[in-house]
Amino acid sequence: MEKHKGFHFISPKCIIPLLLASFLWIIVILSNPNFHVHLISSSSNHNDTSTVPYQSPRCNIDIVPFYIYDLPDQFNAARLRRCHYLHPRMEMCGFVANRGLGQPIAQRPSWYVTSEAMSELLFHARAETHPCRVYDPHIARMFYIPFYTGQYVSSVKEENNLTRRDATGVELAAYLSKFPSFHRQGGLDHFLIMGSRTWEGLRPENLMGTDFGTNRILRLPEFSNLTILTVDSDLYVKQPVQMGIPYPSYFHPSTSDEMVSWQETVRHTKRTQLFSYIGGVRPWSMSADIRSKLLKLCKSSDNCAVIECEKRTVCYEPNKIMDLMTQSHFCLQPSGDSPTRRAIFDSVLAGCVPVFFNKDTAYNQYPWYLPKHPDEWSVFIEPDHINQLEKVLKRIPEKKIKQMREVVIEMIPRVTYVHPNASRDEISFWDVVDVALAALTKQVKLAQHESMK
Ligand SMILES: *[C@@H]1O[C@H](CO)[C@@H](O)[C@H](O)[C@H]1NC(C)=O
Ligand SMILES: *[C@@H]1O[C@H](CO)[C@@H](O)[C@H](O)[C@H]1NC(C)=O
Ligand SMILES: *[C@@H]1O[C@H](CO)[C@@H](O)[C@H](O)[C@H]1NC(C)=O
Ligand SMILES: *[C@@H]1O[C@H](CO)[C@@H](O)[C@H](O)[C@H]1NC(C)=O
Repeated sequence: MEKHKGFHFISPKCIIPLLLASFLWIIVILSNPNFHVHLISSSSNHNDTSTVPYQSPRCNIDIVPFYIYDLPDQFNAARLRRCHYLHPRMEMCGFVANRGLGQPIAQRPSWYVTSEAMSELLFHARAETHPCRVYDPHIARMFYIPFYTGQYVSSVKEENNLTRRDATGVELAAYLSKFPSFHRQGGLDHFLIMGSRTWEGLRPENLMGTDFGTNRILRLPEFSNLTILTVDSDLYVKQPVQMGIPYPSYFHPSTSDEMVSWQETVRHTKRTQLFSYIGGVRPWSMSADIRSKLLKLCKSSDNCAVIECEKRTVCYEPNKIMDLMTQSHFCLQPSGDSPTRRAIFDSVLAGCVPVFFNKDTAYNQYPWYLPKHPDEWSVFIEPDHINQLEKVLKRIPEKKIKQMREVVIEMIPRVTYVHPNASRDEISFWDVVDVALAALTKQVKLAQHESMK
């Protein structure tokens, strides 16, 4: 990452040998049949598997070359080292381990106890080895700011002095502003990941009263043109642009075979429950009413199984969650403290057809990742009709359930965060990161096209 710094130290005495060396280097490059790979990846290691993409030995044409800023220690690395302080009330060290995968699950290779807040780390790890990554900002057409926005925002949310709470965000904006690339398109070709609710980074300028620990980072004028890839968009805010990306689930395969084999497993698993509910009541949240209704309804039905998250820890046991979800035809997905929840993606991974009660839980959040028509892959129940829930589900013909489940199973690869160390030639599908980069590419091309008019 220090590649460009050496040029400051060239003295006149070195110029001639240097020119000679460059000349020889060019000959070597041009005589290499794969020289295009070198130009694209700037990698000098011929056998570096990370530069080997899917079918062809170079970057897929659907994704433009992108650059990753090399952020100084204080922004991410130092925070991760002090992982005990990443969250005021939760111990995050186990979760940030293994580049955000968390702890491996015994006897289940490629499965990890991954926290829902890890999309920032997982995206970063995967992007670093992406064949479309370039190390020269001049040839890049898209720019990734690998700041762990959500980790930062939650680590400082109990700081009462707002100047101090917002300081790192302000420093980040100042740091990036020094790069000509940051200004080339007014920031329109830049993106940032937010692994928690975007709302937490959108504190308005003159907020009166309580602020719930929110931060101003995404309101900074320098960031107004960025695209925020977020697990939970604030649908009332139009700038900066927010685009939904999935919460991470627990499965992080390293090969396509593992993926196909898991899809086969959930396709053929015996589903003994019509529907199931995993969740707590959350008396303080906006969805308390619907959640307590669902809990009651599920407990009183012979066709529903429940895991009640009175103690939060129960709901962090991936084996239990996946076991129940893979045994159910339908998985209830009420909103929580925010409209979205990670369980949507656990449910997809389990081949369990999700049941929604709020259009902002998924349909309005993840357009890049979901099938066009909600009824192809999910069931929607108006909150007023919740008492008819069981009747509605029972009336759905078996054939239709099977069709929906098949669509859900086909969705799994795209909503998966592949293992950060997976080799490119072992993965023949697009995961979360590829889908996002391709969608961003379209957006960047459109913006550049517009600006040329
Ligand atoms: C690269 O791979 C080739 C054959 O696949 C092998 O002969 C060569 O030694 C490897 N080079 C390095 C630097 O690992
Ligand atoms: C990825 O590979 C490196 C090098 O072999 C290893 O040190 C690291 O632990 C691996 N990462 C994960 C998350 O398994
Ligand atoms: C908040 O912190 C800043 C920077 O450390 C300091 O200058 C300011 O006086 C503090 N404000 C209050 C109200 O304590
Ligand atoms: C955001 O983009 C617009 C053009 O679309 C430009 O006028 C404005 O200066 C940009 N903002 C920043 C902070 O660069």
